[in-house]
Amino acid sequence: MEETLEKIYKKCRKEEGNIVNILHELQEHFGYIPERALNWFSKKLNIPSSRIFGVITFYPQFNLRPKGENVITVCRGTACHINGSERLLNRLLMELEIPPSEDTTNDRKFTIEKINCIGACGMAPVVIINDEMRGKISFAQLMKDIKKLKKNE
Ligand code: FES
Repeated sequence: MEETLEKIYKKCRKEEGNIVNILHELQEHFGYIPERALNWFSKKLNIPSSRIFGVITFYPQFNLRPKGENVITVCRGTACHINGSERLLNRLLMELEIPPSEDTTNDRKFTIEKINCIGACGMAPVVIINDEMRGKISFAQLMKDIKKLKKNE
């Protein structure tokens, strides 16, 4: 890991005050931001790790834990809420046996994310399955899609 962190540091050295660029590089390389990398850059740049942690948690695109192989994003905007996205989300979490404080299945096959309006309100409720948007989706259809994903693995 040390070698990778050095490479990222060298690449971003000119803008070392811009921690967001470094975090993007880490996220791209590892798929998330490992705690060890956070601490390494904290020492290297003499920036308190709490400050870096604050930046990571401010931007939703950064993750402190690895995501699952499949990412299912449920829109929680107003139109989707009115059209049942909360019920859809809760049933999905139950079906995949994801505990309330977690977002990823134990086998790391699925991560469930929430997002605010993605601008497709006319198709509410909207779910994004691995970058593919699905509008007016029912729980039954969502489960069919999940079964297909499980079969393909
Ligand atoms: S509220 Fe879900 S797409 Fe707008």
